[in-house]
Amino acid sequence: MTILRLLILAPVVCLSLSSLADTDVEISIQADAPGAVIDRHIYGQFAEHLGHGIYQGLWVGEESQIPNVRGFRRDVVEALQALQIPNIRWPGGCFAEEYHWKDGIGPRDERPTRINTNWGDVEESNAVGTHEFFDLAEMLGADAYIVGNVGRGSPKEMAEWLEYITADNNSALAKLRRANGREAPWNVPFWGVGNENWKCGGNMGAEYYADVYRRYTTFLKAPSNNTPKKIASGGYHLDTAWTDEISQIGSKIDGIGIHYYTMVTENWVDKGNATGFTKDEWFAHLAETLKMDDYLRSHIAVLDRNDPEGRIGVYVDEWGSWYDVEEGSNRKFLRQQNSIRDALVAAINFNIFHRYADRIRMTNIAQMVNVLQAMILTDGEEMLLTPTYHVYEMHTPFHDAVSVPVESGGVPSVSDGDTSIPMVSASAAIGKGGDLAISLVNLSPETDVSLAARVDGFVARDVSGKVLTGEEIDAHNIFATPNAVRPMPIRVSIEDDYLRLTLPAKSVVVLSVQRSSGQ
Ligand code: AHR
Repeated sequence: MTILRLLILAPVVCLSLSSLADTDVEISIQADAPGAVIDRHIYGQFAEHLGHGIYQGLWVGEESQIPNVRGFRRDVVEALQALQIPNIRWPGGCFAEEYHWKDGIGPRDERPTRINTNWGDVEESNAVGTHEFFDLAEMLGADAYIVGNVGRGSPKEMAEWLEYITADNNSALAKLRRANGREAPWNVPFWGVGNENWKCGGNMGAEYYADVYRRYTTFLKAPSNNTPKKIASGGYHLDTAWTDEISQIGSKIDGIGIHYYTMVTENWVDKGNATGFTKDEWFAHLAETLKMDDYLRSHIAVLDRNDPEGRIGVYVDEWGSWYDVEEGSNRKFLRQQNSIRDALVAAINFNIFHRYADRIRMTNIAQMVNVLQAMILTDGEEMLLTPTYHVYEMHTPFHDAVSVPVESGGVPSVSDGDTSIPMVSASAAIGKGGDLAISLVNLSPETDVSLAARVDGFVARDVSGKVLTGEEIDAHNIFATPNAVRPMPIRVSIEDDYLRLTLPAKSVVVLSVQRSSGQ
């Protein structure tokens, strides 16, 4: 391998961490062995009508004192723009299965109030409907991933929604869209045919749902240049029998939407705390996160059998940490804090998704604002960026980059009681400009890692990087100190064939290695 010898002395984060002595870890990266493209849609978001995810989180209305752009809060929109969000899944989740799209069009003051029976029986004003959602998506430069109502809806209602969005003719629905202020059709590249139809989407069995899916998709018609990929609901967790049934539907299925939350509970009641947790809980939560790998492998094995050409994509369209709600908040609003541990959860999952990039076409973290593992928390006028937000921003070089293999077989484990987890998680990819992006996670809560990364097949001109870490295992941002956890530059050196750096305990690092122009 050829790497220009240089030492980068960027301003360095000063960490007074109570960490144990360093552990030496070596990995190797084959930069000259290109694999699958990491679809940028792996970095997708999910915004459901749930708690303050939409109302107050994103939408405050045009009359609000909070600065807004056509009703969407300006601070939140601007922060989200920096994430280069590729797509937003909307309007649910379980909410989608009770959502009637015609409630959300036309003059806002004439829209009916409904009750959000899934999420706390609160009033749903329908102020955010189809036009508002597409306005947000356009402001963020994100593609739309609409989830249609299978459970309480009808094939007619779903077909009409697609027609309203995409028709470029003089049909009554196209005229209605124009009368409501939108002349041109919107693009809708992704369409979910129901959500969790094994539960809140109708408590169906796989075989029954497969027939229902066939029936609904028969009538989903759109112009040929604006035909969405159709995503079927996946089954519950490791239900590979469901995947088996659904993946035999045939050409009408483009993807299967599977959900896996990191949640340490036997009973859905004691899901643990987002902050103030113990070291044992640190290990248990990260061990649970790593199960995503087995989970994906099992589903992909079924798809490889039924769809060897790889036509059907895996859409992990809900994932992330799920804890007990923040004290004092509505139990059904799923509001939780977000710590450095969640930043690791996100980065570990990215590294797993990158490994299966040939089959994974999209993922959507749950959820974008104020709900579960959010990018942003708001409270009235205040807003903050969570550690998870920063991890998304740090990983933008991976959007549509070409994955390359990382050999990390010799990485030691760290243990706590019976729970062992690998000390380092890593992935790498060549970005569109030819630079090498490397994602690194130190899973140990207390031991720094002296990392040597051997890079083959790449001549480096320069390297820079950012580290996200914190003093405590539950380091997080609050409105009074919104920048307690934020990315800082990290020192990296290139010595002979190796990149060398210290990965602090409990950290996420992303490096950008610039390719020499002579290469
Ligand atoms: O993300 C919250 C909920 O979790 C979604 O509405 C549902 O699909 C899942 O069970």
